[in-house]
Parts: sequence; structure tokens; C-alpha cells
Amino acid sequence: MTTTADLSSLGVIGAGRIGRAIAVLGRAAGLDVRVAASRPPEQIRAEVEAAVLGAQAVSVDEAARADIVVLAIPMGRFRQLPAEALQGALVVDAMNYWWELDGARPDLDDPTTSTSEIVQAHFAGSRVVKALGHVSGYALEELARPAGDPDRLGMAIAGDDAGDVAAVGALVDALGFDPVVAGALAEGVRFEPGTELFGADAGAGEAREMLARFWQSQRGRVVSRARGGSRP
Ligand SMILES: NC(=O)c1ccc[n+]([C@@H]2O[C@H](COP(=O)([O-])OP(=O)(O)OC[C@H]3O[C@@H](n4cnc5c(N)ncnc54)[C@H](OP(=O)(O)O)[C@@H]3O)[C@@H](O)[C@H]2O)c1
Repeated sequence: MTTTADLSSLGVIGAGRIGRAIAVLGRAAGLDVRVAASRPPEQIRAEVEAAVLGAQAVSVDEAARADIVVLAIPMGRFRQLPAEALQGALVVDAMNYWWELDGARPDLDDPTTSTSEIVQAHFAGSRVVKALGHVSGYALEELARPAGDPDRLGMAIAGDDAGDVAAVGALVDALGFDPVVAGALAEGVRFEPGTELFGADAGAGEAREMLARFWQSQRGRVVSRARGGSRP
């Protein structure tokens, strides 16, 4: 079983609302947190240090060398990140395709594949796990709770390797949410934008029910039909 004892550093690529909120949770969990953005470290240092006590502002390459690396940038820009810097890294995809922000991108709205599978294809040498993207920004900022708290929210996780999913589960738990394993990376479709769980900020039990209902939903039917009736 993976525990946070195996995890000491957290890289966060993206220093906006979501990246900063995840970085704050990482510091509260006692992790060595390194935050990067598209601007160089010296240009983000003041804002990162003000928003995230004890975090370091670093380059994308430095953030990519942490034990786990969270991608928290607009999804339409992930191909700007250097795949070679993330070679071998355990990468948490916290991004969502959001057309208002990313523009109309049919390549990111393909029902035959989850967006995290598209991210994995780009970072072919990395191990991508989807998590941290379906709860609201408010939940990341305000609703993290210790294990056992009755108000703790569930956080869905999808990934192809059981060890990597367990490692991200340990991270999610340390950050203040109950890990809810949804299955392989293809199952990420069940908590993308447009699904019942997206933005619902639900407890773990309710989150599991929402994931289970996905195939009866409008989006679930579209995905199932596009995949020739097969489910991941
Ligand atoms: N409910 C929610 O809103 C929610 C919840 C969870 C996850 N998310 C997802 O989290 C992601 C980030 O959202 P946000 O609201 O935090 O965005 P944001 O406030 O606009 O911040 C975006 C950050 O990404 C950085 N960035 C952009 N392009 C980059 C690149 N090529 N290399 C490195 N850094 C880059 C920016 O750095 P510069 O300023 O230096 O360009 C900025 O720090 C999105 O994919 C979003 O869908 C959203």
C-alpha cells in the first residue's frame, strides 16, 4: 500500500487559482511544494510565496522532478509543456476541457476517449492519473477535511496502473479528500465537465453513486454510442 511516507515532494505546474489551492493543501500536508507557471520563477516568486506559505517558485523542469507532478493549467495549453521534462514522472491531470476558456476544441471533446487519455498520449513517457479536477475551486480552497470527518468530500481517481492510482490516492487523502477509485484512465469520462459528479462536491458514497449512474446519463449514452456500445 502506498502511503504519504513514500511522498515528500509535490510539483504543481500552474500557479493560478487551482494550482495555488492544491499547493496550499500540499504544504498543509507537510510536503515540499514546488510551483511553476509559464512565466519564469523570478516573475511568479512574489505571488507564489504570498499565496502559498513555504512553497518554492520553480521552473517547469524543476517542478517536473518532484515525486508527483500536478498539471493545473488550462487544458488547451498542455501540449506547450515539454514531454521530455516529464519523462518517467507520475503526473496528476487536474485539468478540464472548458470551452469558454479553451475555445472550441473538437480534439478535446472526442467521446471515444477521455481527455486524460489524450494527455497520456502526449506525455507518452509519463504515468498519467486523473484526479483533483472534478471538485470546485471553492472545495479545493475551503472544503478539505481530515480523514474520518463526516463532511469530507470524495475525489474520483482514474489511472491505468494500480500502484500509481494508490500513490495518487495517498496524495488525495493527505490533501483532505476521500479517494474514490473510478477505474482505468478511460473511466475519466465519468467525471469530466458535463457529468453529474463534476462540480457536485459530494461525499465518497454519493460520488460512487454518481459514477455508477454515468452510463444512464445523456453524456454516458453519447460516449457509449461513440464507443460502439462498449464501456471501458
Ligand atoms: N472548478 C474549477 O474551476 C476547477 C477545479 C479543478 C481543476 N480545474 C482545472 O484546473 C486548471 C487550471 O485552472 P485555473 O482556474 O487555476 O486557471 P488560471 O487561474 O487561469 O491559471 C492558469 C495557470 O496556468 C499557467 N500556465 C498556462 N500555460 C502554461 C504553460 N504552457 N506552462 C506552464 N504554466 C502555464 C499560468 O501561468 P502564467 O500566468 O505564467 O501564464 C497560470 O499560472 C484548468 O484546466 C481547470 O479546468 C478547474
